[in-house]
Amino acid sequence: MSLSDQINKKRLPTHIAIIMDGNGRWAQLHGEQRIFGHQNGVSAVRAASEACAELGVKFLTLYAFSTENWARPKHEVDALMELLVATIRNEMPTLMKNNIQLRAIGDIHSLPDKCQLELVEAIEETKTNTGLTLILALNYSARWELTEAMKKIAADISSSLLAPIDITEDLISSYLETSDFPDPELMIRTSGEQRLSNYLLWQLAYAELYFTPVLWPDFDKEELYKAIIDFQGRERRFGKTSEQVNVK
Ligand code: FPP
Repeated sequence: MSLSDQINKKRLPTHIAIIMDGNGRWAQLHGEQRIFGHQNGVSAVRAASEACAELGVKFLTLYAFSTENWARPKHEVDALMELLVATIRNEMPTLMKNNIQLRAIGDIHSLPDKCQLELVEAIEETKTNTGLTLILALNYSARWELTEAMKKIAADISSSLLAPIDITEDLISSYLETSDFPDPELMIRTSGEQRLSNYLLWQLAYAELYFTPVLWPDFDKEELYKAIIDFQGRERRFGKTSEQVNVK
C-alpha cells in the first residue's frame, strides 16, 4: 500500500520547497565520486516532480545550485552545470507529458551561456502548461535576492515611481524573484542537516520545516508522501492561539 492513500487531497500544501542535500555523501557511501551522487539525484528530482504533479501540488521549488556552490572544486561545478543542461533537455518530454511548467529563480544571467539557453528554451516551451509549476533555484541565495530587491526599490524611489510610504510586505514580495508564486507552506531538507542555508528566507517566514535523514538520491515518492502527511498533522497557528485556530 502506498502512503499516498493517507494524504488528505483537500489539504495539500500549495507550494513545497526542497533543499536537495546529501548527494555527495550518498556517492561516498557507494564508493563513487561526488558527481555520481548528483547524477542519481536527478531520479529523485523526477520522482518529486511527478509525485507533486500527480497529487495536485501547484508549486515545487528545488534548490539546485546556490550562490555559495561556486566555491566547490571547478570540476564539480562544471559537471553540475553539464548535468543541469542534460537533465533539462532529457526531461522535456516528462515535463510536457505531466503538464509541468518550468520556471527559474536566481542570478540566471551569471550562469554559463549553454545553461541559460537551455533554461530559457525550456521555460518558453512549457509556458502554457497548467499543471505543476516546477521552479529551479539556480545560482540563488536569499540574501542576494533581498539585496537586489532593495536596490530596485531604492531606484524606484529615487525616480519617484514609489514613495517610502508605499513599502509594505506585499510590495517587498512583488520585488522578489518569487513574485509570481505564493509562499511555500512546507520546506523539506534531506540528509539530516537542519539549516536554511540562505534559502527563501523571506518566503519561508510561516513555513513548516521538515527534516529527514534520507539522502537526496534516496528521496522517493513515498518519502515525499511522508513529509506531506507530517505537514498535515501539524497545527498552523500563524501567531494565534490553538483555540482561535480551531473555532468552527
Ligand atoms: C546537494 O548535495 C546537492 C546539490 C548542490 C545539487 C543538486 C543537483 C541535482 C540533484 C542535479 C540536477 C538538478 C536538477 C534540478 C536538474 P551535496 O553535494 O551538498 O551533498 P553532501 O552534503 O553530501 O556533500
